[in-house]
Amino acid sequence: MRGFSSDYLRRTRRGMWGDREALELARLGDAESVLDVGCGNGEFTRVLVEETDEADVVGCDFDLSHLSDVRESLGVPVVAGDARSLPFSDASFGTVACQALLVNLREPRHGVDEMARVASDRVVCVEPDNSSVCVESTVAGEPELARRSRRRYLEGSDTDPALGTDVPSLLRDAGLRDVSVTRYEQELVTEPPYDESDVTAVRRKASGESFRGRRDDMEGDEETLDSLRDDWREIGREAALQLSGKEYVRRETVPFYVVVGKK
Ligand SMILES: C[S@@+](CC[C@H](N)C(=O)[O-])C[C@H]1O[C@@H](n2cnc3c(N)ncnc32)[C@H](O)[C@@H]1O
Repeated sequence: MRGFSSDYLRRTRRGMWGDREALELARLGDAESVLDVGCGNGEFTRVLVEETDEADVVGCDFDLSHLSDVRESLGVPVVAGDARSLPFSDASFGTVACQALLVNLREPRHGVDEMARVASDRVVCVEPDNSSVCVESTVAGEPELARRSRRRYLEGSDTDPALGTDVPSLLRDAGLRDVSVTRYEQELVTEPPYDESDVTAVRRKASGESFRGRRDDMEGDEETLDSLRDDWREIGREAALQLSGKEYVRRETVPFYVVVGKK
């Protein structure tokens, strides 16, 4: 099981859903109940709570480590459950949603089938295409190193990190109709004034800690991956130097696909 720390989820969701136009076709304001599958620490659950009008929102995840935080911080019920076999009966929720869940499933089709089964009205999936992420940085080698690492990740992962563009056909195959797609670009920006998570991210880069967390998902022999880790440490050290002079700027654009299907 791929684990996601709260810190990682907070950092990687930064800048997400400042603009919510791409969620319009989900018609969250009309929903009476919403299930957020793979809710993690509740980054998307919070958006669902804010966008629905007094709907009952429920979070569900098979990783128990975040669930009590979601319950306490958002005041929503949470249920421990596996997306491949959801612990709910057919049509229990009006809308069933997920964000960055299907890219983590070996059989995303089963996840979509389950979401369609427990929804009575619509299914909303927000999934990235991690093959088209774009990185710009004031550290000269960082965009190229990010590209090289991404290639290894795409080849080594046992799930499909580029799934976003295939989600519409998964929804159609699950028998959902009127499937609509909106592309949404998340911009993750690091620039002065830095906050604590910027400083931590750069420190983890320089120490090789952030690379260690992704290494198991990468294709390559030990020597190749060691060399990639060393390159990241070097980039991290340069980023730390620029950060101390308030010169470090990094912009990462992640394309997400908001896919909505009706029962
Ligand atoms: C990348 S995180 C996304 C979390 C949250 N939806 C967000 O957008 O911030 C993926 C989440 O899916 C959960 N997950 C992965 N496989 C799952 C499964 N089979 N059943 C339930 N949850 C799962 C993970 O535990 C994790 O919390």
